[in-house]
Amino acid sequence: MVPLKRRKLSGIVSDTETTVKFPHVVIFLLERKMGASRRAFLSQLARKKGFQVEDYFSDSVTHVISENNTGDMVKMWLDMQQKDRANKTVNLDISWFTESMRAGCPVEILDKHKLQEVENEGESVEFLMPSYACQRRTSLDSHNSIFTDALSFLAENAELNNEDGRAVAFRRAIAVLKALPVKVTSMTQLRGLPCVGEHSQKVIKDIIENGASSEVESTIHTERFKALKLLTGIFGVGSKTADRWFKTGIQNLTQLANSGNDLNRAQRAGLEHYYDLNQPVTKAEAETIGDIVKKAVLDVLPGSEITLTGGFRRGKITGHDVDFLITHPDEGKEVGLMPKVVSWLTARGVLLYQKTTRNSYLEKEEGPAQPPSNMDRFERCLSIFKLEEKEMGPDKKWRAVRVDLVVSPISQFAFAVLGWTGSKLFERELRRWAGQVKSMSLSSHALFDNKQCKYLKATSEEEIFAHLGLEFIPPSERNA
Ligand code: UTP
Ligand code: MN
Repeated sequence: MVPLKRRKLSGIVSDTETTVKFPHVVIFLLERKMGASRRAFLSQLARKKGFQVEDYFSDSVTHVISENNTGDMVKMWLDMQQKDRANKTVNLDISWFTESMRAGCPVEILDKHKLQEVENEGESVEFLMPSYACQRRTSLDSHNSIFTDALSFLAENAELNNEDGRAVAFRRAIAVLKALPVKVTSMTQLRGLPCVGEHSQKVIKDIIENGASSEVESTIHTERFKALKLLTGIFGVGSKTADRWFKTGIQNLTQLANSGNDLNRAQRAGLEHYYDLNQPVTKAEAETIGDIVKKAVLDVLPGSEITLTGGFRRGKITGHDVDFLITHPDEGKEVGLMPKVVSWLTARGVLLYQKTTRNSYLEKEEGPAQPPSNMDRFERCLSIFKLEEKEMGPDKKWRAVRVDLVVSPISQFAFAVLGWTGSKLFERELRRWAGQVKSMSLSSHALFDNKQCKYLKATSEEEIFAHLGLEFIPPSERNA
């Protein structure tokens, strides 16, 4: 058989070019309990002997080697990497690896090499669940939506009540449940999991025992919740405004329209297009809008690049708006782009509403202000598009859709894409990780290393994850 060159992983520099002698054996060494340095040493040893060893787990892996782990643990770890693993791997103890190294070829797999399937007392998923959401993969399909729906409701209610700390605590618990590879059926499964606090546990327990959460049931029907939910559903209305209105007796849109309250331009547009803007935007609609935006941008500045970000980039099939990031490969060419795009769209009757804010980002040599603001300072256009639709019936020929356009200089583009892809919790956790663990400040503009007192440049999302010491998580796995 012709030896294959060891496949080079993008971004990973292999120290020695070795040839693969056993192309049907693709090894992955599990770091858990083995440790990073021993794993690196064993990987190098195996490669020298002509074995193919992958640094990251992927579909091509055939042999998973671990040390001091049970079969259940390894299986669960693998399930967490890839929920719908197509390829089955053989999961082996380190003894098979050691014997194979000694023999200089893959030895026959005997029963003693296979991992024990018995679950160790006291061990649970806790060891596999890192506490920052940016250290984990979270795909869109979840085994625990019955719990996360209830907790999302409570998080939303906390946000409506301006209890942001509480809301974030719920959101972190939700993210952990979404990342679990199994459906929770008993409270013991939660033992030791990060971020699932007492309050969330109580809600979960309620649902396991009674099929529903009494707290959710009693909140959902209150006049206050119903009114605040309705009023914040208006584009341009936040929880504070809604609360102020509610306190003056406003509970629905008619009462608001007749109240004599002065609405700003955004809120008037929000009220006018209330129904449309509360209908989910489909992927097909997002693509149609993408075509329009592309046409506009390329017409006013040829060579520009347009990227769909937000939930659609994470693979969601619907969204509450459509987010685009615009850049140009020549730094500086993008300056002043947005007003021209807005004129183009306005001239063609595409915009029902728009508000453009100028770029106000300034890179300070001493680093960003502390604490770094979560708001970015890109040139941005918050807009409502008039989207022509054929299948809307005889009277209605179009619908209103919220669209966010953001312009980034190419030097900040990687940070902007990362920042605008979300999810919101994933972004929050990235910044928290950067600050608490790496002593760095991350924004949608830049990454600043507070220890070295310098900005770390990046031209891709992969590089930013590497700067942060995190394994790269693709957009579809950022649905925390
Ligand atoms: P969205 O609010 O559009 O959320 O913000 P989404 O994930 O696309 O979900 P939908 O639209 O409800 O379906 C997208 C990303 O852009 C960032 C948010 O942090 C989020 O990660 N963003 C949004 C900003 O950085 N700044 C903003 O002013 C708004
Ligand atoms: Mn969005």
